[in-house]
Amino acid sequence: TVADLKGLKQGQLRLAAITTAKYFVPRLLGRFCQLYPGIEISLQVTNHEGILERMMNNMDDLYIMSQIPENIDVKYQPFLDNPLVVFAPVNHPLAKEKNIPIERLTNQPFIMREPGSGTRRAVQKLFDQHGIKVKVKLELGSNEAIKEAIAGGLGISVLSRHALMPNSSEFTILDVQHFPIQRSWYMVYVSDKQLSIVARTYYEYLLDEARKFAEKHGFSTVTQFENIHDID
Ligand code: PGA
Repeated sequence: TVADLKGLKQGQLRLAAITTAKYFVPRLLGRFCQLYPGIEISLQVTNHEGILERMMNNMDDLYIMSQIPENIDVKYQPFLDNPLVVFAPVNHPLAKEKNIPIERLTNQPFIMREPGSGTRRAVQKLFDQHGIKVKVKLELGSNEAIKEAIAGGLGISVLSRHALMPNSSEFTILDVQHFPIQRSWYMVYVSDKQLSIVARTYYEYLLDEARKFAEKHGFSTVTQFENIHDID
């Protein structure tokens, strides 16, 4: 339709994304802005808990997150996988080992994300399932800070594989049993909110870009792309 022609789309787009998605989402915004110069965008990046808070206060059009909220009525669509892997410095003693038993992580100094982080919650859940207690040497509130600490030899951590991109020369992924923890990124919106044309346009754009990205970098995209579905 005429309204779909580029340049005719005008308005505001408010996005909020969890921290791990910030390796993916912002770099796509440039091209989106070129395609649709009439759209004004704001992107907030925060941890899982921060996203829930924004959602409850109805602050954004679309949310990008890894775990669907249980107490808020939302529609959601998975669009790319977000595996959590064990990051270590490239010269780590376990770097060359295969199929490392998860128990061996207990002798490693571990760097943990802050409370409220979805990554932390997923890691803690896996450790609890296996009765593992790691030695948390350091707690840090961002993936970048954790990467710096790993590179500085302070310990190992579990982070999204996306945090490794684009430059991986300082890090290696340890081949530990029960990893990666398989997660996805979802586009989510509050059910009683009608998606604006602008938000719908972004939604379709992101699905498309995710598909290309997945092909190029060996990630997998998730399931059917056509329909947004309800949680039952
Ligand atoms: P986080 O988000 O920044 O809250 O750890 C990542 C996730 O939930 O997968």
